[in-house]
Amino acid sequence: MSVRMTRRTFLRLSAGSMLAVAGRAGAAEGGGAMTTRPVPRTGEPLAVVGLGTWQTFDVGSAPADRAPLAEVMQIFLAGGGRVVDSSPMYGRAEGVAGDLVAAANPSPPPFLATKVWTTGKVAGEAQMRESMRRLRTDRIDLMQVHNLLDWETHLPVLRTWKEQGRIRYTGITHYAPSSFPLLERLLTTEKVDFVQLPYSIATREAEKRLLPAAADAGVAVLVMRPFEEGALFSAVRGKPLPPWAAEIGAASWAQVFLKFVVSHPAVTSAIPATRRPDHMRDNLAAGAGPLPDDRLRRRMAADFRS
Ligand SMILES: NC(=O)c1ccc[n+]([C@@H]2O[C@H](COP(=O)([O-])OP(=O)(O)OC[C@H]3O[C@@H](n4cnc5c(N)ncnc54)[C@H](OP(=O)(O)O)[C@@H]3O)[C@@H](O)[C@H]2O)c1
Repeated sequence: MSVRMTRRTFLRLSAGSMLAVAGRAGAAEGGGAMTTRPVPRTGEPLAVVGLGTWQTFDVGSAPADRAPLAEVMQIFLAGGGRVVDSSPMYGRAEGVAGDLVAAANPSPPPFLATKVWTTGKVAGEAQMRESMRRLRTDRIDLMQVHNLLDWETHLPVLRTWKEQGRIRYTGITHYAPSSFPLLERLLTTEKVDFVQLPYSIATREAEKRLLPAAADAGVAVLVMRPFEEGALFSAVRGKPLPPWAAEIGAASWAQVFLKFVVSHPAVTSAIPATRRPDHMRDNLAAGAGPLPDDRLRRRMAADFRS
């Protein structure tokens, strides 16, 4: 990736021109339609606010555990949400997501993303078949190599499964900025369709190279940990919203944090996790209405640091 190319991509994608590639779909909570972004390889629109399942969906079958999650899923799907992200690493989460999606029986169906997280071809294929069983589907929308574990083995298998129609898109993930150089290399050498990376108003390492590289390579971006596992809320506890929050229609800190993340032009969808229906509504509302432009994004990041 050349720096010249990166700048050109950013000029093309930034600020005003971003509206040309963004669309609207569904009815987000609180009124207004959810903003969508196209998957670069296909143009398929995805709502900018998705749903993660790590920890939150790792529950048993007790009604007291399941009921709030069933409500979370219903609110998410009715509000125009599409991407549900899971992994065999997340304990019972895939099965719970599969049960709750089946119970909601939504139209259109959600965009199911999960991961392969093991070593070896035989174990990887067995794990992916088990993910399909748990998610109650014979086709996974997005299969990602979790934390790049044994990626050399899994990526050729993912391409074969894609050709066979068992998965629709291939992807790679890693939670650590120290792995960004390898993620960046694989965007082009392995021609993956998606990359999942950590990005938040407080952790902006991905802005330096990986997000521009994904845009240049035509790779869709899912953002994990947009709230830093909830730590961002501790950082602002007791603080009123800044005056500029009203400019972007942000009524909560969650909406400030999510609008910052999804306003980056290379981002396709953020996948915050929650077990609370009120938080699901809050997060969905961030996907509707105005987003900050470059000037305000810089101010948001600076204000958050101070
Ligand atoms: N290596 C990988 O591939 C990888 C690594 C990490 C994460 N991920 C994916 O990314 C997803 C998101 O990351 P994450 O789950 O680590 O963290 P996160 O989404 O940054 O934060 C989740 C935390 O935020 C809280 N929260 C959510 N909405 C809120 C709201 N509106 N107001 C206040 N608190 C709110 C949740 O608590 P409540 O339940 O109380 O709302 C939860 O404690 C994961 O679930 C997973 O799908 C992938």
